[in-house]
Amino acid sequence: MFSGLQNSWHRLCSERIEHLFATDKKRERKFSLERMSFLIDYSKTHLDREARDQLLRLCDSVDLADHILNLFSGKRINNSENRPVLHHLLRNSHQSSVMIDGHDPGPQVQSTLMDMRDLYKAIKGTVRLGSGGRFRDAVNIGIGGSDLGPAMVTEALRPYHEGLKCHFVANVDGANIHDVLKKLNAKTTLLIISSKTFSTIETVENAKTALEWLSRYGGNPSQQVIAVTAAPNRAQEFGIEDRNIFCFADWVGGRYSVWGPTGLPVMLAIGPANFAQFLRGAAEIDRHFQSTNWEFNLPVVLALLDIWHHQICRHPTRAVLPYDQRLALFPSFLQQLEMESNGKGVTADGSPLDQPAAPVIWGGVGTNSQHAFFQLLHQGGQVVPCEFLIAANGHEEALRHHHELLISNCLAQAHSLMVGRNLDETRAQLLAQGLAADACEQQSQHRIFIGNRPSVTIMYPKLTPKMLGRLIAIYEHRVFVEGVFLGINSFDQWGVELGKEVARDIHDKLCVSSASCGDDRGMSVLMKFLRQHRPVN
Ligand code: F6P
Repeated sequence: MFSGLQNSWHRLCSERIEHLFATDKKRERKFSLERMSFLIDYSKTHLDREARDQLLRLCDSVDLADHILNLFSGKRINNSENRPVLHHLLRNSHQSSVMIDGHDPGPQVQSTLMDMRDLYKAIKGTVRLGSGGRFRDAVNIGIGGSDLGPAMVTEALRPYHEGLKCHFVANVDGANIHDVLKKLNAKTTLLIISSKTFSTIETVENAKTALEWLSRYGGNPSQQVIAVTAAPNRAQEFGIEDRNIFCFADWVGGRYSVWGPTGLPVMLAIGPANFAQFLRGAAEIDRHFQSTNWEFNLPVVLALLDIWHHQICRHPTRAVLPYDQRLALFPSFLQQLEMESNGKGVTADGSPLDQPAAPVIWGGVGTNSQHAFFQLLHQGGQVVPCEFLIAANGHEEALRHHHELLISNCLAQAHSLMVGRNLDETRAQLLAQGLAADACEQQSQHRIFIGNRPSVTIMYPKLTPKMLGRLIAIYEHRVFVEGVFLGINSFDQWGVELGKEVARDIHDKLCVSSASCGDDRGMSVLMKFLRQHRPVN
């Protein structure tokens, strides 16, 4: 499928990107896309018109339009779990025409959204706790998709907070829940136990600890504990009252679930109106995705850029670099969304893949990451395609000059990665700085920048609830499109199970002093050290 593209890469790999600008004065306009208030600049890549057209032709060669229809019509495309993939219903339920086993799920989705709004109004309005106090804080206890989405969105939309202060506990490491609870008042704190399966060991353990804390310090579990899950029976068994259980269906993947009850902390922080804008933005992208020609289709273009950089150019990773402090969690969110979706070794029918399906996603917030790993990006031996995200405007009007510096650094990095600075330019600069000729020779090799490093810049006017909803939906559909190109199931995650099984076995051995030291393949020395340094209760 990729042979033509590989020939193009063979032709283009020895080109310098900036020379592509020299040969086409309109390159920037031709290799950028402006839609839905986003600008995607992909001119700083090796793509030329022929390669881009080859990528676009891929879409029809894999019947992408049919796959999109299957996604939105509720076909069971998550074939290994025999489930449809319908997270988009959570933001489109009023327009859905999907029937699942003869049942329209739209009304239930709408009803749950209304319950979320009612909870917000109750907490903000009249409800008073037994203690006579009012809710001040909420603690979301969840991990993976039950944490990363809500935590990232809540942080990203901090300028829109008008409700509760939301805190997040995910790790089973006691330090996490300890440090969160120690600063809170049990009498005015809402606990949200968020788990699609309601069986994830980290969440169950943290929930037990939080419930003990609540009771010990005067809280009232029947008023202050909410469950968010697709397994309501397990939540009931855990002791959560029915009226406090917010359900979603198993056709919503955890990493795709922030649009529904998993997003309750977001709603409690930013309020129903802003949450509605967040959903609306995503719904707009759903329509854009289903109705726009491939070359103007934001998720499709971003997916094709990943196919080009990862499958064709064979760059193994992609750096996600949001130049926005409030998107500091965005790389972590994308790590689950992209690598748990497409980090697969077989196709949907179980055949082995002949090459890795997904790039390693990593990154960090700008400008901080310039002082952390940009050395490697500029002068390291490996090429890392960089994805910059930047808003034209920040939220702090009085600090516009800060935002100007932020923008300048973001654009400078993308430019520098492309243009670099060659030996002659470096020598000239050092000599101009007054360095003696011999010192200049000695220094210059260390200070040249090869450049020719690709980047994509995604720009938008301001990070509002609607724009964030659009951004996340773009990435969700990007992941889907890449999965289609690679013929994989992007919606299961069997790879997370083995570690959990082994952990249960080790946990049993760790807690019983007489137990054998565990599997002697790389475990016994470790267990012996633990026995020496760790008293068994
Ligand atoms: O990491 C595995 C995983 O199943 C994720 O897919 C999921 O988001 C996370 O664990 C938490 O699962 P749950 O919401 O069921 O607790």
